[in-house]
Amino acid sequence: MTTTRVVEKMLSGEPLTMLTSYDYTLARLVDEAGIDMLLVGDSASNVVCGNTYTLPITLDEMIFLTRGVVRAAEHALVVADMPFGSYQISEEDAVRNSIRMMKESGCDAIKLEGGEEILPSIRHIIQSGVPIMGHLGLTPQSVNQLGGYGLRAKEEAEANKLLRDAELLAKAGCFSIVLEKIPADLARRVTEKVAPYHCATIGIGAGNGTSGQVLVLHDMLGLNEGFKPKFLRRFASIGEEIKNAVKEYTTAVSDRSFPNESESY
Ligand code: KIV
Repeated sequence: MTTTRVVEKMLSGEPLTMLTSYDYTLARLVDEAGIDMLLVGDSASNVVCGNTYTLPITLDEMIFLTRGVVRAAEHALVVADMPFGSYQISEEDAVRNSIRMMKESGCDAIKLEGGEEILPSIRHIIQSGVPIMGHLGLTPQSVNQLGGYGLRAKEEAEANKLLRDAELLAKAGCFSIVLEKIPADLARRVTEKVAPYHCATIGIGAGNGTSGQVLVLHDMLGLNEGFKPKFLRRFASIGEEIKNAVKEYTTAVSDRSFPNESESY
């Protein structure tokens, strides 16, 4: 998969598929199943590291996780999130850190949260040869400014800003934009607006009118049992399966039925 192919798929009306991945073993399974894009999201801060927010994860930690996913991906495009603090300080810093991510992790593209306020950095990063996926709507790195994880752009003023931001990102050359937790009608309008600039939209909690969909792998597999937002569909109950397997293992070790003769040398 390439960024060009992502755009071609969008233009032909074929829905794009993306899931997060943070390690080699799971990324290999997801890649083998035929996903278009693997996102090494900074949701790793929550899912992998157990933090409440995405903010603490560092660039070094994101590079470390992305390397494993890149080694696993034979087919999928690997997009790596640039963590909080790695692109907000200055344009120069943003370009330097983006190039570091590309060089040291081997990813195919990076993702940045924000619109007009980071546009100069976005332009410079793209000029340096790094493909960018934007991210608008609920942008978890700004949770302290947004005041929580609620639905975004319900009001006209915020919806208009989002439409404008999306157009600016698309004009600047972003090959795609994640739209997180916004009304479905607005996401459809954004999708129509950015398509002529060869920019796809990837929705999460943004309805069915986007060019594609993304979910956090651990959420859709049922590994994160406490998290049940309206937009999430559970496609498996792996959390239950893991707990049952661990209980069976504990019982087998406790009653000395494991290992048996055929499992011994
Ligand atoms: O970090 C992440 O997992 C994300 C997705 C929710 C789009 O940004």
